[in-house]
Amino acid sequence: MSNSIKHLAVIMDGNGRWAKSKGMARVKGHEKGAEVVREITTFCSNHKEIETLTLYAFSTENWKRPKLEVDFLMKLLNRYLKKELDTYNKNGVKFETIGDLAPFSKQLKETITKTKEATKDNSKLTQVLALNYGAQDEIVRAVNSLIDKNREITIDTLSNALDTPYKDIDLLIRTSGEIRLSNFLLWQVAYSEFYFTNTLWPDFNSSELSAILENFNLRERKYGSI
Ligand code: IPE
Ligand code: IPE
Ligand code: MG
Repeated sequence: MSNSIKHLAVIMDGNGRWAKSKGMARVKGHEKGAEVVREITTFCSNHKEIETLTLYAFSTENWKRPKLEVDFLMKLLNRYLKKELDTYNKNGVKFETIGDLAPFSKQLKETITKTKEATKDNSKLTQVLALNYGAQDEIVRAVNSLIDKNREITIDTLSNALDTPYKDIDLLIRTSGEIRLSNFLLWQVAYSEFYFTNTLWPDFNSSELSAILENFNLRERKYGSI
């Protein structure tokens, strides 16, 4: 049996623990984690079925972290996007975001806009970074936008008012052994398959992803039917 996989979502967790286990500062884990983002994105861009890869990079709750770590993450993202532009284009990757970008610095917002613009015609894979993303925030913003337009709230209208392109997630992976969603894509995982691995994100790689995709293929997706 084989399941179709169009939309893969990943909660990239465990960067801090990875660094700590090596006696390094937490931010070193984020740096290594960014390299894994490149590897996994390249793998997905070469995968025949995967059209969208949605990655949880910064949650609406992550502002609670020490300012130094938050600042580091913002700078890392800015640097990453600039450095990766060639790789996005070489691999046919279109860059998109979900989440509320309003609180980000002018400089970071500009880099995000430029990267979206420069990759918008790429069609092998859409990489969606969830930035200042929280599913509850996304749903509330969507409901308010429908109310503002005086639209009826139905599954279809609400679904289309969400940030997320290609709503249905086929497979959601979380690394680092935590078994929770942490406010990621609550609406879009209604019928997703879940896979939790103990591997810390900086140690994750494409061969583990291949094995997870094989496991996903063996699952029976029933959608309430028999
Ligand atoms: C995930 O790794 C990256 C972000 C949330 C930005 P963590 O930084 O949460 O790493 P742990 O969970 O503390 O090990
Ligand atoms: C979820 O990880 C957010 C991201 C991976 C960006 P966290 O590390 O913030 O989640 P909790 O706090 O362990 O639930
Ligand atoms: Mg964590």
